Amino acid sequence: MAKILITSALPYVNGVKHLGNLIGSLLPADVHARFRRQAGDDVLFICATDEHGTPAELGAIEAGQDVRAYCDAQHAVQADIYRRFGLSFDHFGRTSSPHNHALTQHFYRRLDAAGLIEEHTSRQVFSPADRRFLPDRYVLGTCPHCGDASARGDQCDQCGTLLDPPDLIDPRSALSGDRALEIRDSRHLFLRQSQLVEKIGAWINRRTGWPPFVVSTARSWLNAELRDRCITRDLAWGITVPRDNFEGKVFYVWFDAPIGYIAATQEWAAAAPGRDWRDWWWQADEVSYIQFLGKDNIPFHTVSFPATLLGSGEPWTTADVIKGFHWLTYEGGKFSTSRKRGIFTDAALEELPADLWRWWLIANAPESADTDFSVARFAADVNKDLADIFGNLANRIISFAHLVYDGCIPDGGVPGDAERQLAHDLEQRVATLHRHHTALEFRTAAATTRAIWDDANAYLQHTAPWTAIKSDPDRAAVVTRTGLNLVALCAALAWSIVPNLAARVLSALGRDDVIPRWPNGPLLPQLNTGAGTPVARLGPLVEKITPEKADHLTRRFGA
Ligand code: MF3
Ligand code: ZN
Repeated sequence: MAKILITSALPYVNGVKHLGNLIGSLLPADVHARFRRQAGDDVLFICATDEHGTPAELGAIEAGQDVRAYCDAQHAVQADIYRRFGLSFDHFGRTSSPHNHALTQHFYRRLDAAGLIEEHTSRQVFSPADRRFLPDRYVLGTCPHCGDASARGDQCDQCGTLLDPPDLIDPRSALSGDRALEIRDSRHLFLRQSQLVEKIGAWINRRTGWPPFVVSTARSWLNAELRDRCITRDLAWGITVPRDNFEGKVFYVWFDAPIGYIAATQEWAAAAPGRDWRDWWWQADEVSYIQFLGKDNIPFHTVSFPATLLGSGEPWTTADVIKGFHWLTYEGGKFSTSRKRGIFTDAALEELPADLWRWWLIANAPESADTDFSVARFAADVNKDLADIFGNLANRIISFAHLVYDGCIPDGGVPGDAERQLAHDLEQRVATLHRHHTALEFRTAAATTRAIWDDANAYLQHTAPWTAIKSDPDRAAVVTRTGLNLVALCAALAWSIVPNLAARVLSALGRDDVIPRWPNGPLLPQLNTGAGTPVARLGPLVEKITPEKADHLTRRFGA
């Protein structure tokens, strides 16, 4: 039994995430966790909300709430959505937890003791009215390039120019509107990543199985851009810096967020007896650790977080595989949280069951390039794959068992050549599917799952129990029995991607295991089992997306 640690990039606490965020890390991580559990591995799947930094502070100000209360509410909203999407976290924690505060300060102390922390003074915007330093994006003003009046201190959204706060004409505080801004000196801590280039480079070279674009992004950061990194900020909300003269400052959100993977595991361990976070993170050589994340997160996970872990000089688990994803686009353009463009996870669940979204997103995961979501393609694929192929397969044979065999798996007859051939073909397919899942090849895993459904339909088409029943009842019984077990097999193999649909089919066939086991060994006996077991009527497994519904989706989410 292998120990597999799986983390998904931690979603920012503010705001409901869109489908691009879901397929960029959370959903593939879940599919892999489910697959590994099916295969009998010891899996720990950890996620959390990323709660510090300016996104949370600004979100709270916009909502007119205290930051902590805001984070409490937003965490709960996201946790609920992910539960309804079937994301099977062992723990969904929070980076604002006491564990993360303590652990982040621990890492800081270790890095400081190792001589990897340096203090520098930098010049920052200070607002006397707000009585605080303002991060770049808290300073608003007029863009010196295009004259737009709502440019931010880090960037003008209108013309796209990157800015520094002193560039702005007529600068003012985004918090209070204060125009009496000053530039003051502020002390900050830097992590001397430049000292760790060799260590991190050697660490990356020892890893295998990363997508090529993840490796190349990591190498280019390491070689060209590995500057010492400022790990503190002049903010009130965050993890305080345990150092003289650093009162009123906190660690940079990107310093504490990945430490949250470990801290969330500590929260998980603290929640029940008999759990030890060290089994996963401390001198845990036998653990395989896989990180799932979108491509913008690659530098932080291939360089910055390893710098924290390796720099500490302690035996922490580091990622074995970093599975990065490209972007999902929406109808030819970007998903945009600020402009509310595209489909958001809460709205998606108001419209259709989770598994329809899960299926399409995994079957079209942006693994090797950006991928476009379109309502038309989504409707066509879901109707064909889930309704016509998988749904019909299940319904046809279950209805036949009701028509002829009183709703039970029939007895009688022995498997023949068609069943031997089927079992043989399926053994190959199942091995292929296992390989794709293990290699984190999600699109091909979905394609292979669908190919298995096709094989199953072809078998029933070819053996036609509805015809055989008239001339050869024994033969019809064998085929029906095989067909029903085949449907169960198809469902079990699809469970990691479409857990609810699969569970409904399996439960109709009298199989109520919480985690359907991965089929190992010869399939012929597994397809010839269960005579006498009652089979429940299923009803339509998936309602087709009608043209009217597709129009409605387009209207609601924009084109
Ligand atoms: N919140 C970040 C994002 O959505 C991801 C943080 S991943 C972590 O881009 F590891 F740093 F937590
Ligand atoms: Zn501009």
